[in-house]
Amino acid sequence: MRILTGIQSSGKPHLGNILGAILPAIELSKQDGNESFLFIADLHTLTSLRDGDQIRSNTLSIAAAWLAFGFDTEKNYFYRQSKLAAYHTELMWYLNCITPFPMLANAHSFKDKSAQMAQVNAGLFTYPVLQAADILLYDAELIPVGKDQRQHIEMTRDMAGTFNRMAQKDIFIIPEAAINESVMTIPGIDGNKMSKSLNNYIDIFLPEKELLKQIKKIESDSTPLEDSKNPDADITFKLFALLATAAETAEMRENYLKGGYGYGHAKQALYELMLRYFQEAREKFDFYINNPDLIEEKLAAGETKVEPIAAATLARVRSIFKF
Ligand code: ADP
Ligand code: TRP
Repeated sequence: MRILTGIQSSGKPHLGNILGAILPAIELSKQDGNESFLFIADLHTLTSLRDGDQIRSNTLSIAAAWLAFGFDTEKNYFYRQSKLAAYHTELMWYLNCITPFPMLANAHSFKDKSAQMAQVNAGLFTYPVLQAADILLYDAELIPVGKDQRQHIEMTRDMAGTFNRMAQKDIFIIPEAAINESVMTIPGIDGNKMSKSLNNYIDIFLPEKELLKQIKKIESDSTPLEDSKNPDADITFKLFALLATAAETAEMRENYLKGGYGYGHAKQALYELMLRYFQEAREKFDFYINNPDLIEEKLAAGETKVEPIAAATLARVRSIFKF
């Protein structure tokens, strides 16, 4: 099975990206018979960020995160979309020309993002078409993403089906989304979806003191220390339960219910759990961030490896138009 997923280089990788996309994709890539295409969607990034230095630094952090969680770049494919921009954008154009305008105009993500922006650029509007090109270019079958991306994958399926019917040939594979329902949407420190753009995220690779500071900012209600608290309404508890074992979660639930256990205690426990849970990944992340040449080398090797696949798909597509 061919797995593919991308992450924008619009910020540092956060807990939501890690649990929603990075870890599920790496787990899938380890299974026998699977091969994974994991890439940095740095062309998509330009819809919201145009500062080269920031894009570069975010790219290194995201790549270091994939590597820190043990992504095997020899067996799989690891690359930047921008290094294959000619292929991605050419396919995007062909897809643009078969995509109905209302499909893009009605996309949730476009409506949400454009409502928050003072200046809405055309890239934001055609974003799902570039995403479809990312997927179809490599004949990907399974796309592990967070729940918020479901509609983009549906649109990709629509475009692939429309194109195949027009060509009267199976030019594209119709991909499926792999959405981990148990992970769903990771809440940020304010209870909304954890997101770079909302600045409500937890960066698990921060030095200890800064990580603790971020965790302490998690919002909670004003129930007094001695009172019983509702774990299911609390963000710290939700985050704790995502990482803890069933026994640890049951114990924490008991602490909340019995009273005399404050949110401060729960945050300290979450901090300790995070350090434990991510200890190895944090060490590896630091190693790669301090060795950017090694990251560069792995990406460059991946880019060489994917190019013939992209070229073959485009040849198939161009032949339909006698180009
Ligand atoms: P952000 O929303 O922070 O800008 P991206 O859009 O780059 O993050 O998302 C990269 C991947 O991480 C996508 O597959 C997305 O679904 C997943 N993801 C992002 N935020 C979350 C979250 N809060 N919960 C679960 N998955 C998430
Ligand atoms: N749009 C995705 C996001 O913001 C990132 C992305 C770009 C992607 N191209 C992709 C995800 C292709 C999966 C497959 O999260």
